[in-house]
Amino acid sequence: MNKKIIFQIFSFCIIGISCTQQPKLGKDSVEDVVKAMTLEEKARLVVGTSKMYPMPPPAAPNAYQLPPKPNGYDDVQLTFKSQVKVYGAAGDSYPVSALGVPSIVYADGPAGVRIDPKRENDAQTYYATAFPISTLLASSWDTDLMNEVGKAMGNEVLEYGIDILLAPGMNIHRNPLTGRNFEYYSEDPLLSGKMAAAMVNGVQSNGVGTSVKHFAANNQETYRNGINTKVDERTLREIYFKGFEIAIKESNPWTVMSSYNKLNGEYASESHTLLTKLLRGEWGYDGFVMTDWWAEHDPIAQMQAGNDLIMPGTEELIQKIIKAVQEGSLDESVLDRNVARILNVVQKTPVYNGYVYSNQPNLEEHAQVVRKAGSEGMVLLENKNQTLPIATENKSIALLGVHSYSLIVGGYGSGYVFCPHKIALDQGLEEAGFTLDKSMAVSYTAHLARHKEAHPEEHFWYIPTIAEMSIDKKEIDRLANTCDMAVLTIGRNSGEGGDRRTDKGDYYLNDLELELIKSVTAAFKSKGKKTVIVLNIGGVMEMTNWKDYPDAILLAWQAGQESGYSVADVLTGTVNPSGKLPMTFPKRYKDIPSADNFPMSNGNPSMVSYEEGIFIGYRYYNTFNIAPLYEFGYGLSYTQFEYSNLIFNNTELNNEISVSVTVKNIGKVAGKEAVQLYVSAPGKDIRKPAEELKAFGKTKLLQPGGSETLTFTVKASDLASFNPQQSAWVADAGIYTFKVGTSSRNIRLTGKIEKKEALINEVSKLYE
Ligand code: BGC
Repeated sequence: MNKKIIFQIFSFCIIGISCTQQPKLGKDSVEDVVKAMTLEEKARLVVGTSKMYPMPPPAAPNAYQLPPKPNGYDDVQLTFKSQVKVYGAAGDSYPVSALGVPSIVYADGPAGVRIDPKRENDAQTYYATAFPISTLLASSWDTDLMNEVGKAMGNEVLEYGIDILLAPGMNIHRNPLTGRNFEYYSEDPLLSGKMAAAMVNGVQSNGVGTSVKHFAANNQETYRNGINTKVDERTLREIYFKGFEIAIKESNPWTVMSSYNKLNGEYASESHTLLTKLLRGEWGYDGFVMTDWWAEHDPIAQMQAGNDLIMPGTEELIQKIIKAVQEGSLDESVLDRNVARILNVVQKTPVYNGYVYSNQPNLEEHAQVVRKAGSEGMVLLENKNQTLPIATENKSIALLGVHSYSLIVGGYGSGYVFCPHKIALDQGLEEAGFTLDKSMAVSYTAHLARHKEAHPEEHFWYIPTIAEMSIDKKEIDRLANTCDMAVLTIGRNSGEGGDRRTDKGDYYLNDLELELIKSVTAAFKSKGKKTVIVLNIGGVMEMTNWKDYPDAILLAWQAGQESGYSVADVLTGTVNPSGKLPMTFPKRYKDIPSADNFPMSNGNPSMVSYEEGIFIGYRYYNTFNIAPLYEFGYGLSYTQFEYSNLIFNNTELNNEISVSVTVKNIGKVAGKEAVQLYVSAPGKDIRKPAEELKAFGKTKLLQPGGSETLTFTVKASDLASFNPQQSAWVADAGIYTFKVGTSSRNIRLTGKIEKKEALINEVSKLYE
């Protein structure tokens, strides 16, 4: 054997030995894998690859602009373009193949998977199901339904080769103008938290992850990347953190997304208080935290705070982290800790577990889930003289309003979904057997075609408003003569990056819409015929000025791709509406407790102070006796329910109490009822709201005469408020009044129970 061959055998051996000695994720401990990683590999793993930077949005009114492309972005994109696994996904992570660490993929969002529906040189399409907006889902007050939606959504995540869905969004509806409220659930933290937990459990049952977002106090879009939200600790703990706490404890989301804003002077993503002391220390969270996209401030502070992953990432950030470790300003053990947290989650992902995805989720089956969920979350606001369900003799309908022919299925921004189709209301009603006025259909189709011509490309970052079409008086009279009734849809859309405005055409009706409502309702009324308004909106709008004109108002929200079918199902009575408002509709904008210090109006967008404290939504209206237009929890049904037998399982309130109540359908049609339990609690040292939602449940479909007994279990700790002086959750001794009702202001049964000893749970102080 010559020397050269001996040397080659020797070097193969060395390489072979070192290869077999490389630890592998899953086979070896995460600790060993981290140890085997180079500093550069670790720095790359805690920073996304930025492959999937979205195209910059077209200019949108009210909208912020995406930050300029970071240095090196172009190069990064060119390098990686051919390696993109799921086109249109929001981001992915760096693979360390030698150690068995695959790249994982993240995609939005709360109403379904947002990915590009088409790919270059590929005949297949990749449409995903557009589910109803989160606000509609919360209006169902049905955690089982939420779970079912989550299961279907998670299946699309799995089958499209994605590992983590960037949802649910669960910020509190502090003010109706927040542009992204449609992506969120409610003004109430219990409803938000329970809904989010049900969604997370549903999605994650597929073996994929979620990211509850945006943690925390991201309740406005105005200057969201820099705004400082000033909120006292009690308010944070009881309102803005509470929903997250519930979701973390009841569903263990794989990841949490920190928010863009500053909270009490510190960027959320750099806040050790928020991400380590509270989230992990107090709540015991063991997943990982990622930034929101381009929330890049100080990567070292983010790493130290416990923001484990920076998304979507740049080369510059990676180099900064490497340098910081080399220079000693970032302890390598901090980096190791963050890497380990990411690896723990990577081990659960489909890609790590070798799942062979089909790229063919069952879209037909999911469309049925959308149709059902859509109708379950619609809220019947008005129904004079049983206008709805539409009587069988009313066969011909004057279908009016541009959005009847082009329903808004969801909001825009990252929460947009490229769905296979959008069912409008004309299709829904025609398939339900109605005849629609033909000439109106022709005019609206032409109007929509003109709009399309002016805006040929629909971009998910901004969807331009479709102007309403005016109809002259003679035409309206003709319709009132020839049609049996009128259905008029009013639409509103909003999205990420901008807040809404208290303008006509946004929070208020514009002149044309108001005129249309007045003239149509008058013309039909003069013939003894009825008008129904369908509200196809994503958030609260002004209604006091016009709600008395029509005979019925259905708040249809934005119900996803099957919207037209879901609305028709409710209008015809195929589905009896059972949705209830997850927020208050105030009489006047100025009644809203944050009206004067919402960033659009305070003239100082660099800061917003939540001066109303815990008194937001019904907590405010009920405590300070301000009558709302439609209260939290309100919604009508085609039947009536009787409540009876409020029974406690104990004579006093110790650690926990159960209360049961029987709900009976005493009307003529089958229906479901969302039952709400509010509690008025004594407050020795701090002011308590008049009442707070402490539990809720939904009956099954009750046939006429049918009844169901619901049992709610409430822990004493659920009744506590946070006393900042004591830095403790306190449930005072005294009398607690349990109120079971159909809404926050329609209480049917009341029971009192005494708590003999106060409960005091001390926690460490977060903010001075
Ligand atoms: C949004 C997030 C979203 C992310 C990725 C950001 O602009 O605020 O909610 O998940 O983009 O698309």
